[in-house]
Amino acid sequence: MCACGRAETFSLAIGSNYLLDSEQQWRIKAGCDVARVIAIANQKGGVGKTTTAINLSAALAIAQKETLVVDCDPQANATGGLGFPKDPARRSIYNCLLQKLPLESIMLKCQLEHLFLIPSDKNLVGATVEIIDLPEREQVLRRKLEPLRERFEFILLDCPPALDLLAINALVAADSVLVPIQCEYFALEGVSELLDTLMRIRRAQKLTLAVEGILLTMFDERTNLSRQVRDDLKDFFGSQVFSTFIPRNVRLAEAPSHGQPVLTYDPRSSGAESYRQLAEEVIAHAEKGVGARA
Ligand SMILES: Nc1ncnc2c1ncn2[C@@H]1O[C@H](COP(=O)(O)OP(=O)(O)OP(=O)(O)O)[C@@H](O)[C@H]1O
Ligand SMILES: [Mg+2]
Repeated sequence: MCACGRAETFSLAIGSNYLLDSEQQWRIKAGCDVARVIAIANQKGGVGKTTTAINLSAALAIAQKETLVVDCDPQANATGGLGFPKDPARRSIYNCLLQKLPLESIMLKCQLEHLFLIPSDKNLVGATVEIIDLPEREQVLRRKLEPLRERFEFILLDCPPALDLLAINALVAADSVLVPIQCEYFALEGVSELLDTLMRIRRAQKLTLAVEGILLTMFDERTNLSRQVRDDLKDFFGSQVFSTFIPRNVRLAEAPSHGQPVLTYDPRSSGAESYRQLAEEVIAHAEKGVGARA
């Protein structure tokens, strides 16, 4: 077996034709410029989803791209990491998903210019159960996001470590999925399940949903294991793996406790540099129309 674990089936999910729904076709015909919505997802916990949401969004904002982070996780780590400590009085995405409240009404402006946040809080745990009774329960977030798509260039959705109804709502709302994978043995455990879910969503909802890219996180060039995982991933996923790897970097782990992205906490760190590079790749994808609008 390769260092990544079972990987043979994953290539099935790559390179299939993308389906566009009628609304997206209309927008493309009309030449409307709408946000690229990227779900950052992996049901495995602690692989760097939130770190990527915080720092990729900051790097995009620094590159003058209007960017929105939607915290879709009841742990609310992206909310805290972007400078908004827990506050029971603050309304969150939970209120919007279950009430007739537009997302815009709870949107927060972050310290960095061009960067905005839809915050989460622990109440969101209940939403998984409560939205089951709503009509078209997988589409709730997608519909709520629609009015914001023309205002932003990038919308990043920080997903919970699960494939529950919240994560499905994020995937249905997204144009593409960025999958962070930690450099470790069995790194790909669960990725087949995630990609299989993407395929099913695409078919069932007749939606565009591309793979934005696979991102190696906590990479340590000095270890054989990191290098082997990287080589195996490249063998299986080819160009779907981002050229940028995120190194293991203590500044990335420290920054959230200061409520800052690493790009402002320590702009010269290797972590900051790697997320700047990742932002360049993501911007290039959008410009070339790689993925959702290919
Ligand atoms: N490149 C890195 N170098 C060092 N530490 C990192 C790096 N990326 C993430 N971490 C740390 O690893 C932990 C998990 O990261 P993170 O919270 O981003 O993962 P996650 O996938 O969002 O987790 P969860 O599944 O619980 O939402 C955090 O403590 C974070 O600070
Ligand atoms: Mg997280």
